[in-house]
Amino acid sequence: MTKRILILGGSGFLGSELVRASKGFETYFTYNSSLIKNRNAFSLDLNNIDNFKSILKKTTPNIIVFCARFEDSEKFKQIISLIKNVKFVFMSSDAVFDGKKGNYSEKGTPNPLTTYGIKKKEFEDIIKKELDDYIIIRSSYILGKGEKRSAEIIHALKSNEKLRRFNDMYRNPIYVKDLVKIILNLIENNFRGIINTGGEVIITPFSFAKIVANSKNLDKKLIIPVSYRDFENKSLISPDTTLDITKLKSVINFKLKRIDEINF
Ligand SMILES: NC(=O)c1ccc[n+]([C@@H]2O[C@H](COP(=O)([O-])OP(=O)(O)OC[C@H]3O[C@@H](n4cnc5c(N)ncnc54)[C@H](OP(=O)(O)O)[C@@H]3O)[C@@H](O)[C@H]2O)c1
Repeated sequence: MTKRILILGGSGFLGSELVRASKGFETYFTYNSSLIKNRNAFSLDLNNIDNFKSILKKTTPNIIVFCARFEDSEKFKQIISLIKNVKFVFMSSDAVFDGKKGNYSEKGTPNPLTTYGIKKKEFEDIIKKELDDYIIIRSSYILGKGEKRSAEIIHALKSNEKLRRFNDMYRNPIYVKDLVKIILNLIENNFRGIINTGGEVIITPFSFAKIVANSKNLDKKLIIPVSYRDFENKSLISPDTTLDITKLKSVINFKLKRIDEINF
């Protein structure tokens, strides 16, 4: 029987790619501020629990993928308490780590510095306590055409603006279409637990800006390297949250795209 998948945040960058790729499922998805006219799309504000309840009732999903941006822990607890007999996939982040060490495995100890990271850790803890059948995906930057980080670089360089970017902050981003394949693959293979998702190439925001400039033939000289140590909010910067992807590579059967191969 075809399984029903409900993608929360289906109008977002990752969510919309996932909606497009979820061919083997009966797919339902939600949007918040961007109106989407589709019979399988539902308007959802996660602050409104009745709104969520009604979508659950209408769609009776076997799988929920949480791709929404949402930070209210009390509301999230209520949402989780409504979930029964569902595989729950949660998009977490490398921001759960303080970045003092780098190359974090799934066993690394979270110690988030930012509100975003603190909320991701709180949500992970709620899921681990309340659910049995879950997948927590701790992802590095998710990149691809149209996403905000590269769009900002392209816009600035096209406008001849100088761009200052850290050259001492390390990440190993993943290509959005690879991440979508991974999510579907983990669901299909009934994976349970925590998994890191990232790519093989380690970048800094400075080297990333140069990769984007290269892919668009834009002027790299406008990109200026700076240190996060000179940044006034440097206590909020996790210098190196690169993720160890050994576990990921043991469960996938395709080659991850290198970020310098992405057509931004
Ligand atoms: N992008 C990254 O580099 C990255 C890295 C690691 C983890 N993640 C996590 O992966 C997930 C997807 O990221 P993304 O970059 O695809 O995010 P995004 O493009 O910003 O999309 C966020 C989604 O959340 C929805 N949303 C916002 N407020 C909501 C609310 N109150 N109730 C219900 N839905 C709401 C948005 O709907 P509308 O657009 O319709 O308003 C949109 O569909 C997020 O949880 C993010 O934290 C992202």
